[in-house]
Amino acid sequence: MHKTIIVSNRLPVDLKYIDNKLHVKSSSGGLATGMKSVHSEGNGIWIGWSGLAEDTMNSEQKNEVDQAIAQEKCVQVPLTEYDIDNYYYGFSNKALWPLFHYFQAYTEFEREHWESYVAVNQKFSEVILQHANDGDTIWVHDYQLLLLPELLRKKNPTLTIGFFLHIPYPSYELFRTCPWRYELLQGMLGADLIGFHTYDYVRHFLSSTSRIKEVEVNFNQISYNNRIIKVDSFPMGIDYNRYHNAALEHDTNPEHTKSELMKNIDLHNQSNEESKLILCIDRMDYTKGIPNRIKSFEYFLNKYPEFKGKVRLVMLAVPSRENVEQYQLLKRETDELVGRINGDLSTVSWTPVWYFYRSLPFNELIDLYVSSDIAMVTPIRDGMNLVAKEYIATRTKDTGVLILSEMAGAAKEMHEALIVNPNNFDQTADNIKAALEMPKEEQKRRLDALQKRISRYDVERWATEFLKSLEAAKNNKPPQAAT
Ligand code: ADP
Ligand code: F6P
Repeated sequence: MHKTIIVSNRLPVDLKYIDNKLHVKSSSGGLATGMKSVHSEGNGIWIGWSGLAEDTMNSEQKNEVDQAIAQEKCVQVPLTEYDIDNYYYGFSNKALWPLFHYFQAYTEFEREHWESYVAVNQKFSEVILQHANDGDTIWVHDYQLLLLPELLRKKNPTLTIGFFLHIPYPSYELFRTCPWRYELLQGMLGADLIGFHTYDYVRHFLSSTSRIKEVEVNFNQISYNNRIIKVDSFPMGIDYNRYHNAALEHDTNPEHTKSELMKNIDLHNQSNEESKLILCIDRMDYTKGIPNRIKSFEYFLNKYPEFKGKVRLVMLAVPSRENVEQYQLLKRETDELVGRINGDLSTVSWTPVWYFYRSLPFNELIDLYVSSDIAMVTPIRDGMNLVAKEYIATRTKDTGVLILSEMAGAAKEMHEALIVNPNNFDQTADNIKAALEMPKEEQKRRLDALQKRISRYDVERWATEFLKSLEAAKNNKPPQAAT
């Protein structure tokens, strides 16, 4: 029987040595949290990077890491410090990530980074080929591995290869600025099926492909090298039941599952029963619009001063890619903004912004979701954004409002949220006010529609539909040339 191998840069677990002791924690990020449930229910393996540098470990540590990873039904691709600096921090996160999120000014194109990106994609293909049998299905994920489909196909044409991009695909005008645009497209075209979160990303990809590679595009199919490659949109969902059931459990036993973080916020809040809580949860990333969100909250408080003392913004940011300068600058800017606004506006009994820079375990995340009146998900650009969907899944009492950026892929499916342009502070402030004042019946009406859709199109259905479509795409043959 053929198996399915999941491949992504990051594994569902992230390993670290602290004081010579191995720490295994769940990875954050939409890909890892979303695919985790698909993986745990399947019978295949997941191949990726452990988070550690191979050349900084002794043989005992290497064994320990192998064992910890095998326990999770995973296999690692060992990366050196050089690979991590150049392939991961370098080409993946200083070139592709900003380019694909329209942050062109942050994009660095370095030949050394590119060469390392090619070499690491090659490393991934070697490990995969050691574990794949003829006819197996390989599902490759995300921008760190754009070259992998072609590398695999060249070595073993019997494999069925799917590729899914978890971030936006930019317009041709932006993509064409990359010096290695031709090679990147060539790499992706090794797949039988290429999936994106939204139809807009599909359109941009087809436009880049036909203009850069001059292939034949027919509706959503590309004819290339005597093969047909299908391109389609598959909006990724979440493990709805996991979030919903955890929230229900929290409702029945709130004290037991209360996080330290919420206990502190509650204590502080006892003096003001009326006070409302607006929640933001993100990786600390410049695409997430964190400074804009803080500034628009400040703008709201100044535009509608009657809410001062009655609402707090709780911001949870998980550290991410801290070696990249833009992320360090963002952290500094966020620290300063929070400090300035709290300094300007706080009173003895009210602190407007509560900011936590850390990763939280699942039950504590649930506690935060459940305890919030409003979620504000306002990225400048985001492939999908699963936090928006997680928040909706945790609404068990028919209350709660989601404020969502139109720049997130999720906005294409979540019309009942209050949709805002994150650069428009007036509109955002007005929507914060509307959310705070929204009648209960309207909250319920919007939530009902959102929950119905998100529970139906959950991550399992997303994966099943992708794999079904991949199976069908594999058997695609190009139309016979007319004689
Ligand atoms: P991205 O993939 O860009 O990080 P998503 O919103 O799609 O963005 O996914 C983020 C995932 O990471 C969500 O599942 C969310 O619950 C998780 N997450 C975000 N912040 C934290 C945090 N501070 N602690 C733990 N998990 C977090
Ligand atoms: O969902 C987008 C994504 O880039 C994933 O590819 C990645 O796993 C996640 O965000 C977190 O980023 P990183 O793996 O660089 O910590």
